Amino acid sequence: MSETVETPRTVTPVRVSRKPGPGERPRGVPEGARTACIRTFGCQMNVHDSDRMRRMILEAGYAEVQSYEEADLVILNTCYVRENAVDRVRGHLGELNRLRREGRVKKVALTGCIGASAESSQLQRQYGIDLVLGTHNTYELAEFVGLPTMRETYTPDLPGTEGEHSAFVTIMTGCNYQCSYCIVPTVRGRMVCRPMRNVLEEVEQLVESGTSYVTLLGQTVDAWRHDGKRFCDLLERVADAAPRVWFTTSHPSNMEDRTLRLIGDRETIVKRLHLPVQSGSDRMLRIMHRGYKAERYRRKIEVFREAVPDGTLSTDIIVGHPGETEEDHEQTLKLVKDCGFDSAYIFKFSPREGTEAAELGDSVPADVVQRRFLEVLRAVEQNAFTRNQCKVRSVEEIYVRHGSTEDGKAIGETWSGHAVHVRTDARPGEYVKARIESAGPHVLYAGEPIT
Ligand code: 5AD
Ligand code: SF4
Repeated sequence: MSETVETPRTVTPVRVSRKPGPGERPRGVPEGARTACIRTFGCQMNVHDSDRMRRMILEAGYAEVQSYEEADLVILNTCYVRENAVDRVRGHLGELNRLRREGRVKKVALTGCIGASAESSQLQRQYGIDLVLGTHNTYELAEFVGLPTMRETYTPDLPGTEGEHSAFVTIMTGCNYQCSYCIVPTVRGRMVCRPMRNVLEEVEQLVESGTSYVTLLGQTVDAWRHDGKRFCDLLERVADAAPRVWFTTSHPSNMEDRTLRLIGDRETIVKRLHLPVQSGSDRMLRIMHRGYKAERYRRKIEVFREAVPDGTLSTDIIVGHPGETEEDHEQTLKLVKDCGFDSAYIFKFSPREGTEAAELGDSVPADVVQRRFLEVLRAVEQNAFTRNQCKVRSVEEIYVRHGSTEDGKAIGETWSGHAVHVRTDARPGEYVKARIESAGPHVLYAGEPIT
């Protein structure tokens, strides 16, 4: 699952203009109401888990606030995929301890992938964390915030966001792969797929309550299977039920040609494929236990480009995995050029204790990793820039994802999956039509909407 961002919450029940002093109520929060702040790190899966926790705290009578200073309870929903994610959380925990000493923050909860890792007990001791939850026992937060104890719940069965213009729907959790570098199977467990009926009911409810964009989520979403049905069958049904659909993250070994064709055929599916390749070298792909060769990946992309000529393609790439030679790196650069990615998340290898790669030795020197990182980045950006230029002058239907900020620009998405800045006061969930006037490597810039 692609991620890099620390995600601030965009829906804000309570806004304050001034930081309150110790013991002072944030403005807008009713007298006596407790306050909670949720900080999300990492992938869309975590954003969705935070939505579930948000519902619990609101139900328990907490007002949600945006800064630690205003919060009685702080929930850090964390990522463990790379070491810098843990370093970042440590920084936040240190800051929270200072606020606790000043009498502002009262309780701290650590949830998500760090919560599920072996490192969590040491962090709990070091920072005096009040509650640690993994990814499988999120439901225990209910009791902690004063709600009736919940029955043990399979996390996706807990309600997430409803009634917002866009929503995530988890269709599977965990992962059955064992990629050499990856901690996800350790912290998220083996794959569990939700029954199709269950998923469709949730999608129908969301659409009924006003959701117009559904994103199906899973670590290897295309590996979904249940009762003889496969991912393509589920996607087809969801595409019938929702006005706009996307899915992430896929694994090349599970991606079927008929799914790629369905993306092109169905009007309601956003024409954007995120398919992590990790490396362009067969030798590295074997060491990583990815289960496919570069040629097979290339063939998938050919099918996608043919079936979805206007579509966008993104990927994940790791540079500097132990044992990666200059020749391996050259092959990655070649694959990047051949596949013509529209964007890529490029990661420097980060050793995670408990994974095979952390024990491999043969590490790549930091300066070499940095150079390779920049070379891959440049190759991706050059290509993305050229491809984006082709969109200039086209008129696009744009789905507004984030309403306009002070500069009057909203952020939207075309049906081909391009991010667009557009000058409109249309609200999230609405569509506008506009002509693309210019393009950078990451976004398109549209003119005034055409009425
Ligand atoms: N080091 C660097 N990148 C990693 N990823 C996963 N584990 C690691 C690691 N140990 C990257 C992969 C994956 C994405 C979510 O994070 O590219 O697809
Ligand atoms: Fe990690 Fe590999 Fe599973 Fe993706 S497929 S979550 S990289 S183990």
